[in-house]
Amino acid sequence: MVDGRTRVCGILANPVEHTLSPVLHNTLAQELGHSLIYVPFKPEKAGLDIAVKGAFALNILGLNVSVPYKQEVMKSLAAVDSDAEQIGAVNTLVRTESGYKGYNTDYLGLWRALQEEGIRLDGQEVIVFGAGGAAKAVVYLCCKKGAKRVYLLNRTLERAQGLAEEINQKFLKSCVCALPLADYREIPYKKCGYLAIQTSSVGMYPNTEQVILEDAEWYSCFHTAFDLIYTPEKTKFMRLAKAAGAKAYHGLKMLLYQGVIAYELWNTCTVSQEVIEKGYRVMERKLHV
Ligand code: ATR
Repeated sequence: MVDGRTRVCGILANPVEHTLSPVLHNTLAQELGHSLIYVPFKPEKAGLDIAVKGAFALNILGLNVSVPYKQEVMKSLAAVDSDAEQIGAVNTLVRTESGYKGYNTDYLGLWRALQEEGIRLDGQEVIVFGAGGAAKAVVYLCCKKGAKRVYLLNRTLERAQGLAEEINQKFLKSCVCALPLADYREIPYKKCGYLAIQTSSVGMYPNTEQVILEDAEWYSCFHTAFDLIYTPEKTKFMRLAKAAGAKAYHGLKMLLYQGVIAYELWNTCTVSQEVIEKGYRVMERKLHV
């Protein structure tokens, strides 16, 4: 029941209609007995700064930020966490006395999802497909957690080069190597040698027969394939990886954990595994209706 003490959180995105975050956060609040509601907001770009300032004035406890505002919103914040600053994107706003502080729980969410599946990054060789916004957090995480090498494959080489340079400078080592997607065979072939992380939107519903890399045989290079996409449940990238003998995962756990970590930041609490699993099930159910 909403009453005078109910705290409000929400998401800023445009479009916002397909977000799974409200069902996750409202389930967490209900399970934890918190008087908190989470609602979708759809600001226009021109109104983003006013929306953030207005949210603060309305005593809104916390916000998520999604496409297309993860960079733009940084201008409207009182502070930015150092990892989010390095990644150059923010997806979670946490209330402080002077305004919101921005965090990037996408990269933390991916880390928690990888750990849950027993996927390591330290000393690993990783192939990242795509060099857009999502890839930034992925490549940053790989370097931060001690990956030996990251091959960054992108259709547009310049974009991969830009990201590789940026991250190599930040970590003061040449860990990231940019390549055009078409030249994937320049990566040394090693059977089950690589963790592959797919960050592009290629293969996302309704284009479920599309895949970033068509060469089915080459998938035997991967010991593990992680697709950030979660609709469909089994992308073509995952199907090809599995057929070649690799383990394959979709991105719903990453989405789950970026939300759980945001919830924990807003409420200074730890969400139990049992409640997290309930949150995951409602997201799955919402996806499949
Ligand atoms: P996000 O912020 O979600 O990562 P984005 O910034 O639009 O999304 O990035 C999309 C990524 O998918 C880019 O790496 C893009 O490649 P380009 O930099 O060459 O545009 C990649 N991508 C999108 N469609 C693609 C396609 N049909 N084939 C190969 N790569 C594609």
